[in-house]
Amino acid sequence: MYVTTSIDDVRQHVKSARGAGKRIGCVPTMGALHEGHLSLVKECQRFCDFVCVTIFVNPTQFAPNEDLAKYPRPIEADLHACREAGVNLVFMPDNDELYPPNFQTWVTVSEITQPLEGAHRPTHFRGVTTVVAKLLNIVQPDVACFGAKDYQQQATIRRMVRDLDMPVEIVVCPIVREPDGLAMSSRNVYLSPEERQAALSLSNALKLAATRLASGDTDLAAIQQMMIQLMQQHPEVQVQYAVIVDPDTLHEVTTPQQHMVGLIAAQVGKTRLIDNREFLLPQN
Ligand code: PAJ
Repeated sequence: MYVTTSIDDVRQHVKSARGAGKRIGCVPTMGALHEGHLSLVKECQRFCDFVCVTIFVNPTQFAPNEDLAKYPRPIEADLHACREAGVNLVFMPDNDELYPPNFQTWVTVSEITQPLEGAHRPTHFRGVTTVVAKLLNIVQPDVACFGAKDYQQQATIRRMVRDLDMPVEIVVCPIVREPDGLAMSSRNVYLSPEERQAALSLSNALKLAATRLASGDTDLAAIQQMMIQLMQQHPEVQVQYAVIVDPDTLHEVTTPQQHMVGLIAAQVGKTRLIDNREFLLPQN
């Protein structure tokens, strides 16, 4: 496994892998790798014989009041995990490598980024799309893998790739959860034992919605209220949104349709968590 902080190095390694006939895959991450990230690596290896993991805590997707400074950076453990997983190349640039002085070019996806995460984190997606566009330009992979955990993020990235004709196939991988249902996240390490318990209410709320919908409940407003109530039983949990939306537009749906997705964001203590679940109703 080759580890580098340099764009030129990445280009050279990718060029020689491609010259040897290899299909190139890329898994962009911010590090603090867990089983969720590693599932993307595994999936990427199904499609590609040369996988590049990028590790970069991207400052432009954090607002000034967010957790950029304290975001976990266990770099040795991350490199060990990549090596164990059979990753070929790790690109871990510093800020200046990706954002040289006088950087002034941004990629924005205009509509799908507005609600939900965009409403709570107005500058977030501009940072995500800009850094992902840069990483895809640097690595130039055939395939790039993203997690369904960040539902709006994957929808935004797929939109960007389509709209800008970027020559890469985006693969979206299912959410990896802890045995009790909590979605794995690098931010889970911030949770106290009490908060960890309260955080379970996010996945439980989505489970409840799935059960209600499967039993034929058509009152989506009532189901959303039930999700909120379930989470608010825990004083540590401040719900930001709990909605049922159309998977493509991310607009709220008012009457049930065959394919929907429940999206939740909540502050658990000082930690902001998101989760989601797709709902597929049987077709009549
Ligand atoms: P990060 O939060 O490190 O996540 C990297 C990738 O791992 C994302 O595609 C995310 O959806 C996926 N992921 C995280 N937790 C997961 C889980 N429990 N199950 C499945 N996949 C999971 O998302 C980012 O970094 C950044 O915004 C990035 C795209 C790297 C741009 O900076």
